[in-house]
Amino acid sequence: MAILTIESTCDETAAAVIADDGQVMGSALATQTELHEQFRGVVPEVAARAHVERILPVIEMALAEAGIPPEQLRAIAVAQTPGLAGSLLIGLTAAKTLAIAWQKPLIAINHLYAHIYACQLGRETSIYPCVGLIVSGGHTSLYDCRGPLELRYLGGTIDDAAGEAFDKVAAMLGLDFPGGPAVSRAALEGDPKAFSFPRSLLNKPNFDFSFSGLKTAVRYELVGPGEKDFSQLDLSAQQVADICASFQQAVIDVLVAKSRRAVTDSRAERLCVGGGVAANRVLRAALQQAADEDGFELIVAPPELCTDNAVMGAIALEKLAIEDFAPLSIDIQPGLQR
Ligand code: KG4
Ligand code: ZN
Repeated sequence: MAILTIESTCDETAAAVIADDGQVMGSALATQTELHEQFRGVVPEVAARAHVERILPVIEMALAEAGIPPEQLRAIAVAQTPGLAGSLLIGLTAAKTLAIAWQKPLIAINHLYAHIYACQLGRETSIYPCVGLIVSGGHTSLYDCRGPLELRYLGGTIDDAAGEAFDKVAAMLGLDFPGGPAVSRAALEGDPKAFSFPRSLLNKPNFDFSFSGLKTAVRYELVGPGEKDFSQLDLSAQQVADICASFQQAVIDVLVAKSRRAVTDSRAERLCVGGGVAANRVLRAALQQAADEDGFELIVAPPELCTDNAVMGAIALEKLAIEDFAPLSIDIQPGLQR
């Protein structure tokens, strides 16, 4: 027996078939990067329309790979919060329709809880309790995770998410979308101390983040206040590399400082990190150094499970075990519930 999981919170359309024991039987993902790169950011309306086209083929592919008929599914699980409203609606509507047609219970997944759960996959022992750090294009938050379904919000960004800041800086510099991989590639050749960009809220005794000031500081370095045209920039490859490295280091310094303080305050033994930005190697290395110094365990989700996917929807098995099903009247919840 297995469950079907569906993910459509942002710009990836994904489905997976996961056996009772957590084994991934089938998995399919359609990315929309090529649709959004011309805008250098995810356009919600474009994302929703693309989900409509892709969701059924993706579900069919996951089921075909698993090689089981729908009768053998125990439940249909879907990421229902948080995310882009239009994107979430497509996934939830597909899941509800299949639940009715195949007479299966529906399970609602919290996408952020699933990002942390990505660290659990393939591990024999429980990662919980832990401190969870989610760093993605839409979120930057810290949680005290008592169990897979028991997360207490410690703090998060009050403006831009870390990944969003990477994307915006990449756009200013004319680098590729998504910006994270492009900025981190350019940063390889740069000096992280070349520019002293702000580390907002670093010394505030809370777990909130702010990356909007950092983004503005990079902008002022490039074009000066009030100016928004980046097309005339004439930067050498070294200057671009230095800006990228300095910007990246500013983001990382804050993420590392707040995460290690959250681990200490919560008296946790481990820090589990998920979300697209967790794919960043310099961030991983800095977190590992903090873990070694402070004596906690660091678990970062495997790179392919850092960015959005349906496999981390395996968290739905935890809800299946306690028969925590969602009514068919359940609605999407785009905003973050704290
Ligand atoms: O988790 P994700 O796929 O989607 C959201 O739920 O937001 O994360 C995507 C974000 C993008 O902003 C992308 O620029 C960022 O993750 N990202 C990175 C790296 N790879 C992806 N940021 C920094 N360094 C990377 N290597
Ligand atoms: Zn995500």
